[in-house]
Amino acid sequence: MHGLRKLQPEQTDVSPFRHVRPGKISNTRTRGYGLLRCSTRTGIGLCRSRNLLWKGVLTMNKLDAFLDNLQNEIFEEARQALGEKGFHRWRNPKFGGRMENPDGHGRVTGECGDTMEIFLKFEDNRVSHASYVTNGCASSAISGSFAAELTLGKDPDELTDITDEKVLETIGRLPEKDQHCAGLAARTVQEALNDYMIRQRDCK
Ligand code: FES
Repeated sequence: MHGLRKLQPEQTDVSPFRHVRPGKISNTRTRGYGLLRCSTRTGIGLCRSRNLLWKGVLTMNKLDAFLDNLQNEIFEEARQALGEKGFHRWRNPKFGGRMENPDGHGRVTGECGDTMEIFLKFEDNRVSHASYVTNGCASSAISGSFAAELTLGKDPDELTDITDEKVLETIGRLPEKDQHCAGLAARTVQEALNDYMIRQRDCK
C-alpha cells in the first residue's frame, strides 16, 4: 500500500484531512493525500523521490520507506503543534457530520473565509446530540469537534458559557495562528443556540 495512504485516520466519520491545507507540497497529487503541513525539506525530498522513481533510480520499497518517514515527520509536527489531546482528536474525529432535523442549527463564516456549522438536538431542554461540519483547517475540525462535545447535556443557560476561551482550554493547545478557529466554533455554537431559542419562542 502506498505509504501516504496511511495518513487516513483510523475512524472516518469525518476525515480531518479533508480540511487541512497542504504546506509547501503543492502539486495536485500530494494535495489529494491531504498532507497537513510539510517543511520545505520534506517537500523537496518528496519531489526528488518522485523524480528518482520516475527515472528508475528509486525502487518502490525505498519510496515506501521514504513516505513512511515523511508520514512520521508530519505526525510529529502535528503532535507538537496540536498537543496530545488535539492530535488524538485529529486522528480520531468525533461528532462530525450533518444532522437531520436539528432543533438548533448555526452556520458561521469566519474572517478567514472558512465556514462551520453546528447542529444541536435537545431533550428536556438539554442537548442530547451534537455535530459539526466545517470546510476549514485541521484546527477548525478539532475545535468544532470539541465544541460539539462541550454542548452535550447542557441547557441553554449553560451553553452560553461556551466561549472561545472555553473551547481552547478544552483542546489544551492550538497553534497561535489557528486560535481563531476555536472562536469560530464557539460562535457557531452560540448561533445554534440562538436558532433553538427562536424556534422555542415561535412554538409558543
Ligand atoms: Fe479558518 Fe481555521 S483557518 S477556521
